[in-house]
Amino acid sequence: MSYDLVVKNGVVVTAGATYRADIGVRAGKIAAIGQDLGGEQTVDAAGKLVIPGGVDIHVHMQMPLGEEVISSDDFFTGTRAAAFGGTTTIIDFVEPGPEQTLVEGLAARRAEADPKVVIDYGLHMTIGPHEIAKLDQVQAAYGAGCGSFKLYMAYGFRLDDGQLLRALEAIRDAGGQPVIHAENWDVICTLIERHQAAGRTRPHWHPRSRPAALEGEAAGRAIDIANFVGLPLHIFHVSCAEVVERIQAARAAGRPITGETCPQYLFLTWDAYDAPGLAGAFPVCSPPIRDKTHQDALWRALARGDLQMVTTDHCPFTAQTKALGLHDFSQIPGGVPSIEMRLAGVYQGVARGHFSANRWVELCCTAPARLMGLSQKGDIAPGLDADLVLFDPDRRVTLSTAFLHERCDWTPYDGIELQGWPAATISRGEVIVREGEFLGEAGRGRFIARRITPP
Ligand code: URP
Ligand code: ZN
Ligand code: ZN
Repeated sequence: MSYDLVVKNGVVVTAGATYRADIGVRAGKIAAIGQDLGGEQTVDAAGKLVIPGGVDIHVHMQMPLGEEVISSDDFFTGTRAAAFGGTTTIIDFVEPGPEQTLVEGLAARRAEADPKVVIDYGLHMTIGPHEIAKLDQVQAAYGAGCGSFKLYMAYGFRLDDGQLLRALEAIRDAGGQPVIHAENWDVICTLIERHQAAGRTRPHWHPRSRPAALEGEAAGRAIDIANFVGLPLHIFHVSCAEVVERIQAARAAGRPITGETCPQYLFLTWDAYDAPGLAGAFPVCSPPIRDKTHQDALWRALARGDLQMVTTDHCPFTAQTKALGLHDFSQIPGGVPSIEMRLAGVYQGVARGHFSANRWVELCCTAPARLMGLSQKGDIAPGLDADLVLFDPDRRVTLSTAFLHERCDWTPYDGIELQGWPAATISRGEVIVREGEFLGEAGRGRFIARRITPP
């Protein structure tokens, strides 16, 4: 039997198994896994690991911050960079306007994304203070394909605890999955004011305004409210050991709590904020990057199963935009670019012997897909979308803006050497990146309407 495409001679690695096999693809789906398959097009994977396409459930493309400021990757450049790095599915966000219904907000965000996306994507629906009056629309948003709902305990989007309770109840009643940015906003605002009053305005003071203990407190409070309401909760961008402990304790008690960390917390330390001039402002993101003890704790948590996945929180701003906070760290637009290096970055856990290649696939592909109702993604099995990455475990790369494809004029990973890099990326059976050449096109990605399967 002939296939449209056959990936031959590779070592297939999934979250559950490692074996040598060919993969036959027909009409964008995995049609067969076996030996000596033949097809119209063949991709030779000799010497490569063949893994499911990466799934990054936390990205911010062309995210507006106020009137003038917008994250620098749009849905084309950001998803193209994702594809170069071996990611074939992302989940971004809807932030409805105050006058929009949730479903109108979703339609508007889709109108921005659909013509540009190179890979498949989903959208989380943000429930901010304006949306508390629209909680009766949560069911409709779920029905329109937003299976997950973003809640903030910080910034202008911040919900107080009573609002959190009401939002979580509405999400529970709709069958959705909540995801949360957990920080203690009142403490942060007070500490920022105190540093400003004392003339402490350099980025050095950014992490010192957002203590790890209070990130832990906020995560613990969110977990307790979710437990009270009786629904799962996913904690975004875990930066510190204190949050890991909260997640670990909740899971040990049988609660459906999950957590992610991101490359910036795994590869950088807070010394980055002391770089001279504007460079110290570049890595500003929230929660902040912390000291090496936290970095080590996060790698350990990934290995032990106390954190369940790695996403990016990809949210780049150019040097010019970061300069808005040159004289006041609290005005630096927060976010860093990580979308392209995530998969290879987490592979360093395999290269350094922290965890297996199967665990790497689970962290970057399978666990995020399962949590977010991406039923066709994150695994290699007949019937699933043929989203595949041929990963060269022997290639060594040095990261730089020249090497990466993100639309940002700096990278926090400049000069970092990685072992392993994707040699080819296949999305629904189409080779979209091969040996450093982009073969995809804007608009070929599809919106995925998601339904959540209870844990
Ligand atoms: O500083 C960050 N992380 N910016 C992106 C938005 C968010 O908080 O996830
Ligand atoms: Zn956040
Ligand atoms: Zn984010």
